[in-house]
Amino acid sequence: MSTPQAPFVIDDRDASNFRVNREVFVSNDILAQEHAQIFERCWLFVGHESEIPAPFDFRTRKVAGRPVIFTRDKQGAVQVLYNSCPHRGAEVCREGAGNRKIHTCFYHGWSFDSSGQCVLVPDQDSYGEDFGRPGLRSPARVESYRGFVFASFSEEVEDLTTYLAEARHWIDLLCDKSRDGLQVAQGTHEYSIRANWKLLIENSIDGYHAATTHPTYFEMLIASGVDLAKLMATVKNTSGGDRGCFDLGNGHSLVGGANLGMGIDLPNPEAAAQVAANQDRVLQEHGAERGDQVNNWGGNMFIFPSLLLIWTDFGILIRTLQPVNPEYLEVTGWELRVPEEGKEAGELRGQSYLAFWGPGGLATPDDVEALESCQRGFKTGSQSIWSDISRGMARDQAAMDDELQMRLFWRKWNELMTGEPALPEPGGLTLPRPVDVG
Ligand code: FES
Ligand SMILES: [Fe+2]
Repeated sequence: MSTPQAPFVIDDRDASNFRVNREVFVSNDILAQEHAQIFERCWLFVGHESEIPAPFDFRTRKVAGRPVIFTRDKQGAVQVLYNSCPHRGAEVCREGAGNRKIHTCFYHGWSFDSSGQCVLVPDQDSYGEDFGRPGLRSPARVESYRGFVFASFSEEVEDLTTYLAEARHWIDLLCDKSRDGLQVAQGTHEYSIRANWKLLIENSIDGYHAATTHPTYFEMLIASGVDLAKLMATVKNTSGGDRGCFDLGNGHSLVGGANLGMGIDLPNPEAAAQVAANQDRVLQEHGAERGDQVNNWGGNMFIFPSLLLIWTDFGILIRTLQPVNPEYLEVTGWELRVPEEGKEAGELRGQSYLAFWGPGGLATPDDVEALESCQRGFKTGSQSIWSDISRGMARDQAAMDDELQMRLFWRKWNELMTGEPALPEPGGLTLPRPVDVG
């Protein structure tokens, strides 16, 4: 197969038409270029600090395909270390999680402390006197924002706060639900999809597909007494105001906004009272307007290139992904909880989270099938090589079930791949920025 050539996207503002060349979903050359020009130049999510609360706690995982150890050193500082032995390359840590002061490579026994320093080389006498024991390397940059730890493989990347642009104000809104700090619930979801990674980005911010792709989930909601008409009215917002698509800059976006109202009923009055008490605390500490935003605003936030933070009343999801090859991706998901809401409400949100986002839930398998179906459809080849992402382009303000958020992704993607600047969409959103932010 020949290397696909730009244009990868057609962004026709006059005709309100936006299309994506389907070669970018199937090409090995494109994936190699994405690694070099996107994954190696941007900030990538590694983990949440609550996953490793104590010194020497660790988690192993992959970041854009690179194995890392996400740990805390003796001083409690977060460290991200490449999980590859400087001796001959083996993974130094082969467990998913634990607490360990010293990581010993199983191959020849070289040992490293929690900051990556090499502390033991067996038979060191066999090496020259000047042999400096090499330690575990780290990505070029590691920074954290409100407990979310990111790494970049590029020294040149802008600082994380600048990179996050307007998204950081939404992270603030999310994090301010808790005074003690959001906590990742125990357990991790890991699953894979036979599809290109960019299809999952599109799907994770797609309000258009919900009713057609997920009938089983909605049937379950109706059976459990949820007022579906009210729920759909909150999702199908076309009235403007403070719901729709927020352009957060740098390819980041949020589809959602105020009063999402996708509430879960708390059957237990004590649990409901604990949630209400936390919301009252938020209102007192942040004032009525911002407090309402913290309590009631949310949605599907995408942080370019591969992080999703999704929060509604029925749970908070962290999702990230790794392309393995152009037609196969790995997904990792975690649930975040607000400790002040208490165990019972947390568990109920956990059940809602599982019912929708769990890999065996009532929605995610539908999405997996939809993405794999698209990937199979791409085999039709040159007769139908363009996908259409134009929905809402002719509107003054994009609705939650439009596709502006996907165009923001594709324009940033195209800018990094081709050097063509990602121009804002005329007539784009003028939604209010969260109040009280610097
Ligand atoms: S590869 Fe790790 S000690 Fe040899
Ligand atoms: Fe879906």
